[in-house]
Amino acid sequence: MAEFTLPANSKINKDGRVHRAEGAARVKSFRVYRYDPDSGENPRYDRFEIDLDNCGPMVLDALIKMKSEQDSTLTFRRSCREGICGSCSMNMNGKNGLACTTAIEDLKGDVTITPLPHMEVIKDLVPDFTHFYAQYASIEPWLKTKTTTPSGKERLQSPEDRANLDGLYECILCACCSTSCPSYWWNSDKFLGPAILLQAYRWLADSRDEMTGERLDELEDPFRLYRCHTIMNCANACPKGLNPARAIAEVKKLMVERAV
Ligand code: SF4
Ligand code: F3S
Ligand code: FES
Repeated sequence: MAEFTLPANSKINKDGRVHRAEGAARVKSFRVYRYDPDSGENPRYDRFEIDLDNCGPMVLDALIKMKSEQDSTLTFRRSCREGICGSCSMNMNGKNGLACTTAIEDLKGDVTITPLPHMEVIKDLVPDFTHFYAQYASIEPWLKTKTTTPSGKERLQSPEDRANLDGLYECILCACCSTSCPSYWWNSDKFLGPAILLQAYRWLADSRDEMTGERLDELEDPFRLYRCHTIMNCANACPKGLNPARAIAEVKKLMVERAV
């Protein structure tokens, strides 16, 4: 019979199982994508071992620990650590999400972390959002009106009209949805993708906006809108629980309604 060695700091309890004693390490292994354009080297994966007993519960906590204690050159974006800013979006074990709201314990086995798929990488886990932001600017994401504002008054909105923006205004532009969409992978030069189309619908759905026709004209194009083939990865990927596919369907419905 093979000799059994008890893990350090552990003991066998009455039930016969090995339990971790206080102070014992629970180690989790992370494979992290690394790329430094200045080095001239190909991308690689680095392995980091993290003692979960000395780390916060989220993937972002583990990344901060890797950077503070093991490799200060590890590069990633983060700001709020509350799922509000959208900075820490990345791919963890094959699924896009926010590192700050993804619990390490929900990721089974060794954890593989890569940048968001199909985006240019600036360094390590930092994708280049230049094109994504340019697409956002292209939908003119602000209230546009033709009538003059009632003098000295705000443009009012009924509670019902305001409720039409629920499920839209919460978008944090993290791009988890767009970078999970195969149509966006292959046509992101022309297709706006689910994030930007959800934002476009946010302004179409706003009762105060008076440029609906012009906004629809801008979207009526074989690529910008109609490259959505209802694949639905976007709704599955959104860390805020939003449904860009539904917003896109609403835009298509507005197109049909104005055509008949
Ligand atoms: Fe991120 Fe969701 Fe907005 Fe897409 S819809 S950008 S996944 S918050
Ligand atoms: Fe892509 Fe979502 Fe449409 S995954 S194809 S944008 S339904
Ligand atoms: Fe802001 Fe994760 S750090 S959403």
